Amino acid sequence: MNDFLRPNTDGSVFGAVHLGYIAVQSQRLTDWDRFGASAIGMHVDRLDADTMRFRLDDRSCRFLIERGPAEDVTALGWQIDDHETFDRIIARVADRGVPIDEGTADEAALRGVERLWRFPGPKGIGTEIFTTAVTTPEPLRMLSSGWVTGEAGMGHVAIVSREPESMRGYYHTVFDSRLSDYIDENVSGLMMKIRFLRVNERHHSIAIANLRGVKIDPIRTRVQHINIQSATLDDMLASFQRVTDLGFRMAWSVGQHTNDRELSYYCVTPSGFELEVGWNPIVITPEREATWEPSTYQGISIWGHTTVGQTVLDKFAQFRRALETVRTPEITVPELSGGPSR
Ligand SMILES: [Fe+2]
Repeated sequence: MNDFLRPNTDGSVFGAVHLGYIAVQSQRLTDWDRFGASAIGMHVDRLDADTMRFRLDDRSCRFLIERGPAEDVTALGWQIDDHETFDRIIARVADRGVPIDEGTADEAALRGVERLWRFPGPKGIGTEIFTTAVTTPEPLRMLSSGWVTGEAGMGHVAIVSREPESMRGYYHTVFDSRLSDYIDENVSGLMMKIRFLRVNERHHSIAIANLRGVKIDPIRTRVQHINIQSATLDDMLASFQRVTDLGFRMAWSVGQHTNDRELSYYCVTPSGFELEVGWNPIVITPEREATWEPSTYQGISIWGHTTVGQTVLDKFAQFRRALETVRTPEITVPELSGGPSR
């Protein structure tokens, strides 16, 4: 860990939190195998008929895909660097009366982690925290040459929310997330606002999108997309070609984002949420961290990200007349959402 980011001097856990793994429930394990290994280029391990994992690096699990009905992301696994910080997070949750459970030995083994605990998260996505990831000496067998993980974690998660300030408050309360910036995007005359939150040197580990003034969420899945970062531009472009060649759905072709400057494309996973494969986002180094000020960008992309089929923007546009009263309230964790709305 970088000394500048070392937590605990002020009680903050910022910098000691890293997105470690994604847990998915799906009935489409055969499709996931082909998608993840043959198209995206990750290492796949089939554990049994109902369980598979993808690796990106020397860790035994970055994606856990278990057979089940949700067809969605069910939990996000966050690595916490040390036991003291881990205890601090547990105390924050427990002190606010939120139920927190220790994972079983089997659950920890499946996720390839030690000291697994879980508690409720926004939109019903479980928040799982762990201290140590199990690495494996088994060599990587994958089409990609590598993925960028390490201090920056495995990537980021983007979520559409009808309660964006509550969600932002949650990650602030639990992980001391910091606001990197905003993007405003015009969607058929309505303003979509995206808040980008970081918990380490990755520009954002969580992005939260909503339509201003209209509480609608047209996305079936709890997570709109997961992002992973290719080691090289060639890797990213080759995976784009394989996704296309193998007939998986593309959502946005290659383009570059305004805020973190990441080059990326978006395709649709067998479970329906999207996977963004990116390359070379800016890193918020200690020097940048020291002077970082959030700003607001107009539009998601500098260039590209041409839509292929229906995208989140189309879905928002279609739903602009939807009334919040026809939908059930979004799941929030109010005890943990009281952070500042900065
Ligand atoms: Fe993204």
